[in-house]
Amino acid sequence: MRQLRALLCLCLLAQVALASRVRTRRELAPGLYEHGVYDAGGAYCQRGDVCCHGRDDGCTVPYQDTLCYCDLFCNRTISDCCPDFWEYCLGIPAPFPKAPGCARAGHTYPTGATYRENCNLCTCGPGGQWQCEDHACLMDGELIDAVNRGNYGWRAANYSQFWGMTLEDGIRYRLGTFRPSPTVMNMNEMQMNMDSNEVLPRHFDAAAKWPGMIHEPLDQGNCAGSWAFSTAAVASDRISIHSMGHMTPALSPQNLLSCDTRNQRGCSGGRLDGAWWYLRRRGVVTDECYPFTSQQSQPAAQPCMMHSRSTGRGKRQATARCPNAQTHANEIYQSTPAYRLSSSEKEIMKELMENGPVQAILEVHEDFFMYKSGIYRHTPVAEGKGPKHQKHGTHSVKITGWGEEQLPDGQTQKYWTAANSWGTAWGEGGYFRIARGVNECEVETFVVGVWGRVSMEDMPHK
Ligand SMILES: *[C@@H]1O[C@H](CO)[C@@H](O)[C@H](O)[C@H]1NC(C)=O
Ligand SMILES: *[C@@H]1O[C@H](CO)[C@@H](O)[C@H](O)[C@H]1NC(C)=O
Repeated sequence: MRQLRALLCLCLLAQVALASRVRTRRELAPGLYEHGVYDAGGAYCQRGDVCCHGRDDGCTVPYQDTLCYCDLFCNRTISDCCPDFWEYCLGIPAPFPKAPGCARAGHTYPTGATYRENCNLCTCGPGGQWQCEDHACLMDGELIDAVNRGNYGWRAANYSQFWGMTLEDGIRYRLGTFRPSPTVMNMNEMQMNMDSNEVLPRHFDAAAKWPGMIHEPLDQGNCAGSWAFSTAAVASDRISIHSMGHMTPALSPQNLLSCDTRNQRGCSGGRLDGAWWYLRRRGVVTDECYPFTSQQSQPAAQPCMMHSRSTGRGKRQATARCPNAQTHANEIYQSTPAYRLSSSEKEIMKELMENGPVQAILEVHEDFFMYKSGIYRHTPVAEGKGPKHQKHGTHSVKITGWGEEQLPDGQTQKYWTAANSWGTAWGEGGYFRIARGVNECEVETFVVGVWGRVSMEDMPHK
């Protein structure tokens, strides 16, 4: 008797162990009802003619892109049962209400099921109809086709990093420069001694004139902080150029985002004059020292992790370690006051050629996100789709050169080359070209230059 009991116990234990192992494995399988997508009306056990009246781990049939079970072990709490298991195998109604369901791609989905169509969420309504949101999407196949068919001088592409975002989100998270206030707009323009007959080259590329000193386009991710990115980008190049390559720091946008907080809003936008004020008065460290960590839009601003103190004559020194253990070099880089250039095409060109890349604001419209190559001009392709599809916001970029191209009709198309901050997979290796001399998207409205604060001490002694 005792022996029998022991044996029974052992068996039970073994069975419990087996059950828990199997159960764990099955629970780890992708939940069939995850995301609320399941086929309420499908015939699975029935189609495969499978019903297992015990526990059978192999008792499965294909279910969409995974498997579902037709054995007694299946259970709504595990939710890996085929939807027709109860009715077909047990002859009882399924333990969940049968919804009228919505049809999609040969399946029926219950009320409340959802799927995404680009930037819009579609929900199966109580009446058995899909109800989809109606946002304008950042990537829109119709607009991409319209640009590419339209002979506008540039090509559009579908970017996976933008797919699924609404146009509003694109404007909200991918730009991030406040329009300069009227006082800043009226800032004195640099007077340039320029002979109106002066002949400038037809092509200019800062990277060719200053090899090794022009930094790669940056990637702001979904941080609406182009104010910090374009400022860091222009300052990095100019400090490199003005130090004649003795210092080639890639400056830290994160330092500006987190520490330049006076009237600035970090990854929710900021002002260029404020950024330049900070670079002059406080200075920033390199990107290696203070890396970018705000890629995803975060609810809370990140605290400032770098501080500095004056060492006299306007120069400063860091009083904090780099906020990452790998880098120790925490030199502070500063600039002189930034200056505004006139909107004259030639003056901008001359400044660029003599002193290096300049910063410019850019009014970004819906079609710009899809830019792939060529000479950009804002197109009317979204006009037919209504006002919701036409949105714009202010951005800032780094202009690095210019050129011109002969069009098939014999006309010459002049352009600027500029670095964006949407990564190097966007546009022409992170750069774009845009029509020059016509203030396209306000690119010539507010152009800024600056001198790196480079003193003799920064130069190596001979
Ligand atoms: C599913 O599991 C619950 C709790 O474990 C149980 O009460 C219920 O009877 C099971 N249903 C089926 C259909 O096996
Ligand atoms: C765009 O790309 C996404 C994924 O990267 C893809 O799912 C979608 O079908 C593409 N759309 C068009 C219109 O090419």
